[in-house]
Amino acid sequence: MRSIILGTGRAVPARVVRNDDLAERMETSDEWIRSRTGIEERHWIEPGERGLELGRRAALEALDRAGLAPAELDAIVYATSTPDHFLPGNGVYLQRELGIDATIPAIDLRMQCAGFIYALSVADAYLRTGGFRRILVVGQEIQSTRMDVSTAGRYTAVIFADGAGAVVLGGSDDPERGILAFDLHGDGRHAEKLWVEGPGSLVRPEQWPAQAAEGRYWLQMDGREVFRHAVVRMPESVRAALARAGLTTEAIKLLIPHQANLRISEAVQKELGLRDEQTYNNIQRYGNTTAATIPIALDECARAGRLAPGDLVALTAFGSGFVWGSCVLRW
Ligand code: ACO
Repeated sequence: MRSIILGTGRAVPARVVRNDDLAERMETSDEWIRSRTGIEERHWIEPGERGLELGRRAALEALDRAGLAPAELDAIVYATSTPDHFLPGNGVYLQRELGIDATIPAIDLRMQCAGFIYALSVADAYLRTGGFRRILVVGQEIQSTRMDVSTAGRYTAVIFADGAGAVVLGGSDDPERGILAFDLHGDGRHAEKLWVEGPGSLVRPEQWPAQAAEGRYWLQMDGREVFRHAVVRMPESVRAALARAGLTTEAIKLLIPHQANLRISEAVQKELGLRDEQTYNNIQRYGNTTAATIPIALDECARAGRLAPGDLVALTAFGSGFVWGSCVLRW
């Protein structure tokens, strides 16, 4: 038996933040942001909006596309590195919001930019080892409350954004479809190259002024180091996942890389020898939504008819930790 994606969904905040809006708040420019990152606009929450609501909307869409009711789920795996509260994580809140009375497991997973791929690997293992038939997998992130939106924070504030994506995973006996393999890694030697020292995403910097003044509350990144490692690790990991499935890059119909930076995606595409139409990018419209980039992209591809049953899709991500990984599946 293999795990297949039964439905996809996504949700982003209504508020659109364009590069020119950022240029009004810090010393930056539309030209700098586009040329360095590819980003044109992104979505940020308004004060008071919560990440869980995005996760709930994405989950309901995915369930609807799968033709399932929340009560038919056997588990939830919720990936976010920016939960609304320090604890508990967003998983049980989503279970409650979806009105699921059964005491199904609601698993929280962090893993930052690689969160969705790791969440998928957990759900896939649960499905294949039995006892679980339908699992909701969510990737959701609120980065806008963890960034210094002034010139001092421009290095990260122009890149990161808010959003959610979800899939419903189910078991199938169809030999032509489903998840084929994963490749997963971590290397804690680089933990502080992309990190936030402070607490959960609902806590505003005004509530933690001393730490905020020292910059310990904000997302901090060594961008060059992240770039240098990401462009090596992502293609390496795609190849490893393909090899586990007995395949090579020739088999790839569509690569969906984590949307970290357009230049990173282009470098990964080039390294894997793929053409433009074989690589999906939407960072131009969403920015980097961390654990949400891949499920948002998957949902866009599914709705746009970019994927036919049996197409070989490669997902790959790299992020804070550093942690990284890939998944190859037949749609
Ligand atoms: N607007 C204008 N100027 C800026 C901004 C900004 N938002 N941010 C930095 N600058 C300035 C710098 O201060 C520097 O000025 P200086 O030359 O006077 O010192 C200049 O622009 C160039 O800075 P660099 O660090 O050389 O810029 P670079 O071309 O390396 O681009 C970037 C920076 C985009 C962060 C790049 O290093 C990168 O893409 N790194 C990968 C990290 C990444 O993508 N992270 C997000 C994903 S993380 C993840 O998801 C895994």
